[in-house]
Amino acid sequence: MTTASPSPSPIPVAVLVSGGGTNLQSLLDALRESPLARIVRVVSSQAGAGALERARPAGVPTTVLRNPADPDELMAALDDARLAVLAGYLKRVPASVVARFRWRLINIHPALLPGFGGRGMYGRRVHEAVLASGARVSGATVHYVDEEFDRGPIIAQWPVPVLAHDTPDSLAARVLEVEHQLLPMVVLELARRGVPPEPVKLSVKEPDFDETTTRRKGDA
Ligand code: GRF
Repeated sequence: MTTASPSPSPIPVAVLVSGGGTNLQSLLDALRESPLARIVRVVSSQAGAGALERARPAGVPTTVLRNPADPDELMAALDDARLAVLAGYLKRVPASVVARFRWRLINIHPALLPGFGGRGMYGRRVHEAVLASGARVSGATVHYVDEEFDRGPIIAQWPVPVLAHDTPDSLAARVLEVEHQLLPMVVLELARRGVPPEPVKLSVKEPDFDETTTRRKGDA
């Protein structure tokens, strides 16, 4: 008689937020039925973050940090997580927490790092800087978190075209659309690999547009 090996339990994932939480929502949706990963806690640096209103109906416990710079408070909140995901989290993660979560702490950024990242480069400012630079391609990046903002090794990127008449808002919307696909893909792939103790580099998708014209393939 053969005995089926027990299926491994889902990887516990914590999501750190500061804002509206559309990326959190994409994770809640993608992981709801997943045998690979489960969101066990949402940790917010802001009591009023809209993301908290997304966690509650999904039955996910929440923690609002009193002092995001306090490593003990953050470690306690992340205690049961094997993987921690920054999804619009605007505070610096204390160095001791980064060290404890080495290769287990990831962030999503709304541009193609290493360009357009670093301190103060978040939200609308990112897209304004991309447009001001004349870049014809932007995109989303998921990377490991290290001691500096937006600098850790890149896990995966998903490019999108910058179009001639883009505004910061139109570009942000196009990037956000791929963020919502990229982040769950990366989390599920890391979980499938058991969250390896060394950096992973994933090739997610070829751009579906012609980089020389920034037209989507098939456009007139
Ligand atoms: C996203 O653009 C993400 O890349 C960046 O912050 C934004 C968060 O948006 N780090 P939301 O709160 O997930 O809607």
